[in-house]
Amino acid sequence: MSSLALNQINKNYGPNLAVLKDINLHIESGEFLVLLGPSGCGKSTLLHAIAGLHGVTSGEIRLDGKVINDLPCQHRDIAMVFQSYALYPSMTVSQNIAFPLQMRKVSREKQVAGVQGVAKLLQIEHLLDRKPSQLSGGQRQRVAIGRALVREPSIFLFDEPLSNLDALLRVEMRTELKKLHQRMGKTTVYVTHDQIEAMTLATRIAILDKGTLQQVGTPNEVYDKPANTFVATFIGAPRINLVDGAVVRTASGLTARFGNAEDVIPLPAALVPHLMHANPVCTFGIRPENFAVGGAGGVGDNDIDIDVIVELIEPTGSDDVIIFKFGGNEMTARLRAGSITSLGKNRLRLTTTKLIAFIKQSGNRIG
Ligand SMILES: Nc1ncnc2c1ncn2[C@@H]1O[C@H](COP(=O)(O)OP(=O)(O)OP(=O)(O)O)[C@@H](O)[C@H]1O
Ligand SMILES: [Mg+2]
Repeated sequence: MSSLALNQINKNYGPNLAVLKDINLHIESGEFLVLLGPSGCGKSTLLHAIAGLHGVTSGEIRLDGKVINDLPCQHRDIAMVFQSYALYPSMTVSQNIAFPLQMRKVSREKQVAGVQGVAKLLQIEHLLDRKPSQLSGGQRQRVAIGRALVREPSIFLFDEPLSNLDALLRVEMRTELKKLHQRMGKTTVYVTHDQIEAMTLATRIAILDKGTLQQVGTPNEVYDKPANTFVATFIGAPRINLVDGAVVRTASGLTARFGNAEDVIPLPAALVPHLMHANPVCTFGIRPENFAVGGAGGVGDNDIDIDVIVELIEPTGSDDVIIFKFGGNEMTARLRAGSITSLGKNRLRLTTTKLIAFIKQSGNRIG
């Protein structure tokens, strides 16, 4: 089991292209850290630097406390699974998996035992004599994982290993990977731009944008307490509603008014101390699932009913996604299927304790 520390990592391609900016990230032994971010933000660059496929411009990479910047990749005891699987087409599955052992001049008996072991674990024993061209995408992916596993590395790196698979297989393989990690407990760094993959697999998520780390936290932390509007928007589907609201003091306490809406939204107690003074207008974040159907039954202390104009109802099976206008702003709610059946005027219930506030100018979370 191994820990990994990235200290002030910078990577430039030429004088004007900074791809990684001051990355500080400590990955504990046994962690499943997911690097999440949009295309081009530097995820693969960071993973390749950890693997030793290329160097960094400045900063330190430490494996179990030892600086490994100058250690060639074959000596790093780190195994990587690529998006493309990169299997050798002329070799059988068995030969592909044995290859890293062969390179290390491991004895023939140990190679056979190693291949048998991972084949059993990944349930590909019946495929060992096939060539990669005779396998499905999911099977190829298992072989690529097998080839990484057989070395018994201290750290696993995955670069979008599921992105070539169809939606159903992707979900299946995601579960397999999670089970594998639970069984083996190997330190893992996993790159994806799929936020659902990140949420389901990670012990912690590191969110990257334009080469800068935005936030590192457990899935719940980044979801409930996003560091800024970028993180808030990147995580969660349907997307969080971000709406500018004026902070207004009323007889019943501090409230937010969205656009020209008649209903004002009482602000949660936790936010009040932060909003009293400096922030007359904030950007508020409301997750679509913080809405329910309004009107009927008692309204709880933390809930408020608001008048909205429903414009669209999108069924997704168990839930409906409701697109509506509130105070002139277009917003999204996720409700149990069939909760709302008519377009136009409706009443929705909002759980106000879940409200998140951001500084309008910087986008940083308040509180
Ligand atoms: N060898 C290179 N020379 C110059 N620029 C490069 C090189 N490799 C990558 N880049 C640039 O560095 C940035 C980060 O690339 P990287 O491959 O790390 O992104 P990514 O987050 O993995 O994206 P994706 O999700 O599309 O795989 C991009 O703007 C890319 O164009
Ligand atoms: Mg990439």
